[in-house]
Amino acid sequence: MHTFHLLQAMVFAPSLVTANILIYSPPSQPALTYSITIPDTTTAADSGPIYLQISAPTTLQWASLGQGTQMDSANIFILYAASPTNITLSPRSSMDGGQSEPQYNPLANLTLLPGSGINNGRMTANIRCMNCLSAWPTLSSSNSSSIYTLDPDGTSTPWFWASQSGPSVNSSDPSADLAMHDDKGTMQLDLSLAQFSSARGSLDPLYNPFSDGSIVIS
Ligand code: HEM
Repeated sequence: MHTFHLLQAMVFAPSLVTANILIYSPPSQPALTYSITIPDTTTAADSGPIYLQISAPTTLQWASLGQGTQMDSANIFILYAASPTNITLSPRSSMDGGQSEPQYNPLANLTLLPGSGINNGRMTANIRCMNCLSAWPTLSSSNSSSIYTLDPDGTSTPWFWASQSGPSVNSSDPSADLAMHDDKGTMQLDLSLAQFSSARGSLDPLYNPFSDGSIVIS
């Protein structure tokens, strides 16, 4: 009897699997959250989508996540308000060695998933990125970013963040001119805690794993 129940549980377990979502909040910006989850198929193939969420209070003018250790050589995601209800997600790369505002990079292969927008004083971007395991190509050859790679189940992967407080940008232009950060920092994320079985969802290009995942605090 016991064995039967155990087997039954094992047989049905895969359909109940939810994404393990790793969440990081900067200590100096506790209302700002960065989440990540990675399909096991991406980890196995070292290629494919990764899922990111940036969620920031509207008291921040913009909030950003960077892959890697520094502005130079990183894929940078910047979130700001497009309107009172919509967000702009601007993928950018530094074109001058990280000395000034990163430039919009149209070669980032991103999809904004359902649930993105502004609600209850929070801006949220649910992102599927198809080319985030290495540096995005850039339109300029002066960029040195080609060295960046991400280990999809690395236990200590480097990331960084930055934010700027102030009134809404209110622009749907991904090249909008932004004021420099008034807060920033770096973090190491254990992506072995952020894996999910892609048996569910992977066939649907608009699947949003953040809507039904289980949370792991970084
Ligand atoms: C919006 C326009 C931006 C300007 C003008 C700008 C400018 C700069 C400058 C001049 C520095 C070196 C001086 C310092 O440490 O304070 C710097 C550092 C830094 N910035 Fe930015 N930045 C911008 C956006 C961003 C964004 C979107 C991120 C994304 C997370 C970011 C992350 C960082 C980090 C982590 C550092 C310290 C490490 C490093 O030098 O790379 N910045 N920034």
